[in-house]
Amino acid sequence: MPGEFTRFCALAEIPKGSKKAAKLDDKWVLVCHTNDGLFAVSGICSHQEKPLFNGRVRNCKITCPVHGARFDLATGAALDLPATKPIPTYEVRVSDDWIEVCLD
Ligand code: FES
Repeated sequence: MPGEFTRFCALAEIPKGSKKAAKLDDKWVLVCHTNDGLFAVSGICSHQEKPLFNGRVRNCKITCPVHGARFDLATGAALDLPATKPIPTYEVRVSDDWIEVCLD
């Protein structure tokens, strides 16, 4: 059965090159609008559980602003120490100009 998508925000709120974090179902979700499209990941770093919201996004990777670990936005993989665990990634889609995320 396909997962359920939840409305995140209007597409116009996240122009290309920007990102937005919001809490959905008690989880911090970060949606990044990159040149390669939209990616939804956890808004919390897997190393010491700090917010990733203000991390720099480049080439489909986000850098944690706290200790500098990078994560692949498509897979969630941790690319640098000190992070060793991936971050969750979520399916994201656009429906009627709304960004929707599937947390399943
Ligand atoms: S909290 Fe993100 S790298 Fe340490």
